[in-house]
Amino acid sequence: MKKKPMKEVYTLGDLQNWRDVDPPIRLGVFGDPVVHSLSPQIQNAALREAKIDGQYARFQISPNELRQALNRLRTLSFIGANLTIPHKIAALEFVDDLDESALRIGAVNTVKIDNGQVRGFNTDGKGFSRAIREEFSVDLRDLRIMILGAGGAARAIALQCARESCERLVIANRTFDKAKKLADDLRDFFAGPKVLGPVARLQAIAWEESAFRFQIANVDLVVNATPLGLNGSDPSPIPSRLLAPHLMIYDTVYSQHRTPFFSAAIEAGARAANGFSMLLHQGALAFEIWFQREAPIEVMRKAL
Ligand code: ATR
Repeated sequence: MKKKPMKEVYTLGDLQNWRDVDPPIRLGVFGDPVVHSLSPQIQNAALREAKIDGQYARFQISPNELRQALNRLRTLSFIGANLTIPHKIAALEFVDDLDESALRIGAVNTVKIDNGQVRGFNTDGKGFSRAIREEFSVDLRDLRIMILGAGGAARAIALQCARESCERLVIANRTFDKAKKLADDLRDFFAGPKVLGPVARLQAIAWEESAFRFQIANVDLVVNATPLGLNGSDPSPIPSRLLAPHLMIYDTVYSQHRTPFFSAAIEAGARAANGFSMLLHQGALAFEIWFQREAPIEVMRKAL
């Protein structure tokens, strides 16, 4: 076989008429859009370091192609894949089984092909937990946390906070009913005896300045789990004047430049971090699911 370099982006058509390269492509990320995904950078560094004969590629897959694309992975002897926007929830119905996290979160960010079965996992929650420990040297269980958003990413983060028994959890969402639903889903985790005075341990709030203002005095960590900040023109989800120096701010959006939320935090004298660390750790956890061995995290970090 003549050696061919890996393409920048593959398509469903490529999967259906597969012509491999050397080292062979055995992993990838499915997204729409996908061209900006940094996962290949991290995972290919890990594969080289671990001396695994395989590469990780980008796949531009639209929502109506997801089922076929996942099916092709079975026949092409892929090891697995990551799923990103907009596939994480849709994938639930196309996989053969789900691990407990993916089932409870209701979203899949990693699949593994096991004896021809497509198995769904979700590493976002644990990745978030590791990112917070790394960025701020604290554990979720010691924090009062407010999450902005109630979509797929927010659900993974909220469940992880609940599992680690954080001191308080507040969920704010533009569509209040979704915040309420998420809080209701987590109610069992907060039935315990931790007492925090007059504020509730678990609460859904409206996306309103007065609600933010009250909660900010009663939380330690604020997490942006909305896409606000992905576009350069987006405002910060919470304006700087409402933030305060005691806060830690985590923006799941990542950028080489400061995101609007990150800038607002710094302006308010708070500590801030962006989503690179969560991207790194969810990727390392995916590597561990695929290969059942420790991920070379420092090499992956450098590759970012
Ligand atoms: P993801 O899987 O990335 O979490 P998602 O499931 O589409 O994406 O969720 C996006 C979240 O960001 C939702 O909570 C959404 O709020 P709604 O439930 O009201 O739609 C929130 N979101 C998106 N755009 C927003 C904006 N401009 N302002 C505030 N919240 C926004």
